[in-house]
Amino acid sequence: MATLEDLTTLDALDAACFARPWGAAGWRAAIEGGGIVLLAGVPARGLACAQVILESCELRRIGVEPGARRSGLARSLLRSVIAHARRAGCERIQLEVAEGNVAARSLYRAHGFGSVGRRPGYYRDPPDAALLMDLEIGPKS
Ligand SMILES: CC(C)(COP(=O)(O)OP(=O)(O)OC[C@H]1O[C@@H](n2cnc3c(N)ncnc32)[C@H](O)[C@@H]1OP(=O)(O)O)[C@@H](O)C(=O)NCCC(=O)NCCS
Repeated sequence: MATLEDLTTLDALDAACFARPWGAAGWRAAIEGGGIVLLAGVPARGLACAQVILESCELRRIGVEPGARRSGLARSLLRSVIAHARRAGCERIQLEVAEGNVAARSLYRAHGFGSVGRRPGYYRDPPDAALLMDLEIGPKS
């Protein structure tokens, strides 16, 4: 798990991966709020952030630097998030993804996530619908 000592790395990676990065303050809040904050690669080239809320785990962020993509880092991060969520007793992992984000949707589908809803017009810049996806991870799944 990442710690407050990783804030500079998280901030830089986030800015390399996302058009609207959280900033160091956002990552500090995620860590101090008990989030599952993970880095992958040596040196770190990918990050993930998830939050456990009762029996659900919300995947809030997963990103890999453009130059390190398609080498399995996101797969490794997602598997770690799933393992942490299981250990925390969660029954499911939930997320939102832009409908046009083919790479992320493929990643989630490859790990068993299914679509459970769609919010048209959810994203503005660029405009896109949000797909709601989840993965059951409880003892009955
Ligand atoms: C989505 C993202 C995290 C994938 O990271 P990655 O490290 O390249 O992914 P991996 O190499 O672990 O790939 C795992 C699987 O994801 C899918 N995938 C990843 N990139 C893909 C692409 N460009 N097109 C289609 N499928 C893709 C594939 O199923 C892949 O398995 P395969 O390589 O055996 O075909 C990365 O593209 C990224 O950071 N995008 C920008 C940030 C983002 O959109 N995050 C998600 C929303 S929070």
